[in-house]
Amino acid sequence: MKRIMLSVAVAMLAAATCMWAQPTEDERVEELLRKMTLQEKIGQLNQLSVGGFDHNAAGMMRAGMVGSILNECNPNVLNRYQRAAVEDSRLGIPLLISRDVIHGFKTMFPIPLGLAATFDPELVQQGARFAAIEATASGIRWTFSPMLDIARDPRWGRIAEGSGEDTYLDTQMGVAMVKGYQGETFDQTSMAACVKHFVAYGAAEGGRDYNSTGVSERTLRNVYLPPFEACVEAGVMTLMTSFNDNDGIPSTGNGFLVNDVLRGEWGFEGFVVSDWASIYEMVNHGYAEDNKHAGELAFNAGVDMDMMSYAYIRHLEELINEGKVSMEDLDNAVRNILRVKFRLGLFENPYIDESNVEAAFYSEEALEAARKSAVESAVLLTNNGVLPLNRSKVKTVLVTGPMADAPHDQLGTWTFDGDPAHTVTPLKALKQLYGNDVQVIYEPGLKYSREFDKGGIAKAVKAAKKADVILAFLGEEAILSGEAHSLVDISLKGDQRKLLEALHETGKPVVLNIMAGRSLVLDFEIEHSDAILYSFHPGTMGGPAIAQLIFGDETPSGKTPVTFPKHVGQIPLYYNHNMTGRPANGREELLHEIPLKAGQTSLGMTSYWLDCPFAPEFPFGYGLTYTTFKYSAPEIEKTEYGVNDTVHACVTVRNTGDKEAIEVVQLYVRDLVGSVTRPVKELKGFKRVAIAPGETVKVAFELDIQDLAFYGKDMVKKVEPGKFQLWIAGDSASGTPIEFEVK
Ligand code: BGC
Repeated sequence: MKRIMLSVAVAMLAAATCMWAQPTEDERVEELLRKMTLQEKIGQLNQLSVGGFDHNAAGMMRAGMVGSILNECNPNVLNRYQRAAVEDSRLGIPLLISRDVIHGFKTMFPIPLGLAATFDPELVQQGARFAAIEATASGIRWTFSPMLDIARDPRWGRIAEGSGEDTYLDTQMGVAMVKGYQGETFDQTSMAACVKHFVAYGAAEGGRDYNSTGVSERTLRNVYLPPFEACVEAGVMTLMTSFNDNDGIPSTGNGFLVNDVLRGEWGFEGFVVSDWASIYEMVNHGYAEDNKHAGELAFNAGVDMDMMSYAYIRHLEELINEGKVSMEDLDNAVRNILRVKFRLGLFENPYIDESNVEAAFYSEEALEAARKSAVESAVLLTNNGVLPLNRSKVKTVLVTGPMADAPHDQLGTWTFDGDPAHTVTPLKALKQLYGNDVQVIYEPGLKYSREFDKGGIAKAVKAAKKADVILAFLGEEAILSGEAHSLVDISLKGDQRKLLEALHETGKPVVLNIMAGRSLVLDFEIEHSDAILYSFHPGTMGGPAIAQLIFGDETPSGKTPVTFPKHVGQIPLYYNHNMTGRPANGREELLHEIPLKAGQTSLGMTSYWLDCPFAPEFPFGYGLTYTTFKYSAPEIEKTEYGVNDTVHACVTVRNTGDKEAIEVVQLYVRDLVGSVTRPVKELKGFKRVAIAPGETVKVAFELDIQDLAFYGKDMVKKVEPGKFQLWIAGDSASGTPIEFEVK
């Protein structure tokens, strides 16, 4: 007994000594800060782009003039830079090595818009974890992801990079990615996440990238800011300001957003980085006189790190000496950055094990997660029964179209590091998986998505005559979406429609698969095909996923994360718009086709277009599968609630077909009367539920009344008592509502 007590005492003493010996993160930050010169402090705020080993850049690192680098991921080069910072600089502060790891590093997952279509945050978190495992093996410890920009305009090329138009879905996906990148606990595979672009960048006027935005403070708070706030709560370590000016103020110089909202209201403790040269660009905006003035505005607005404007490294010392920037603020910015470096363990483990890098790439588990993500992100938009293909009847398929065998393009935008040599295209997968049972003929028709016919269409048509079914792979090359790649015409480019029409005219069933970085206008495609499977850009394992969906070894479960317009002129078109005084509900006919009666001077006085229906082609949350579901009316346990109550709502969903499938059951709410006009519907919950043929499943949701809070007339977030409607349905345009009241 005595011996046990003695060893307990020794252990306690050891623990106490250990605690005594190990300073906290904050103490380490303070200790380091005390030793730093003004120039070294400013150096931590400087982020430099490097490509290959550059002696000047290494010299700056030795002088303590660089806090972070981007755009290099050769482990050997990175180790050399890191040695310059750690071994050859006065204080040995490690560099924070960053990169745009947006939807995978080597193993490419579907583009984020496709990931959002999975409505599966757990899977998305898993994908981000694999991205972090692969990227950190190469020394990348900070990614500029997730992009949380709500995008209601598919002309904007960067819609590909986010989770679409809905605040709730965007929040779930963003938080999942943050958790996946950073890991549940910090270790060598933790990669700091960066939520971007703060804020409203996706509301660019006309969908033209970098354009001005005019989002009111209320809409910012109700629509654009919540995903950022949720990620701050989830512990995201960094945030990036956006390029755009909103209501006249460039985000990178907007102290209200960064100092007041982000840090003041939400208590963000990480650091804020500018976007690439967005400090300097305030000069172009006509908001700053020169780069020095831009540096002053950005720094005083709360931007800690300067990405590639050289404004801080060149001018901050002078600004401090002139009293335009305070030493206290500088110290705080340095603290924010050092804290992240300590948390990531960079001081303990600054180097990469160069012998072990490639072992981390393309693991079986990562490839399987990528395949599963591609399966879940594909949305079945139309199907006249041709899908899934019946293997006992289909003996020969024609594989055609520019995306059938496009290993680079199916990876999508932001694919720095994913190697197309690892991509499994649909052509390859169809041959590998089904080639024994089915003869696969390949005739591309067009070589790339923007190509005009050079005789390939006739060849494809000729080949189609030998096939039982045509599998057409159309869409957009990777380069048609992403940063600075906006479009005014969001229908298929080149002669793809001509190809589709010619294939359709053969009379053979046409299964159309579309890989694209945005929602496209598909009126023509619907008319000229028998089924449309929309897989966005599906990544490395897109081929097997699509092939298995086509042959029914997998069932579609994706739902549209954005509204698909019928016509580009309808944009912006999104499901959760506010109610107008003259709503267009109920009439679908084109008013300009109605003959005028004698003396008639108008065609209707509600919120219509004369030459296009008001409804979208496909609403938000929409997607078919290989069975059908029947929903009961939703039920709630009572009809009156207090502001702190929880609504228990449920519905029964019956699989009325003969295949097991997953349904994404969605809960929407409408606040009937508010101190300001409210959205006609808002997504507040979803669940992926597997249902066997003939089975009826009860799906239950808990909705906290507090989740109905919003910023009303007085700009204070609260629940406004009154009547609400609640739907539980398979998409944003279906279902019958039930009413409840908040007292
Ligand atoms: C983009 C950012 C990106 C940064 C660094 C900018 O042009 O807007 O999203 O993270 O470049 O590559």
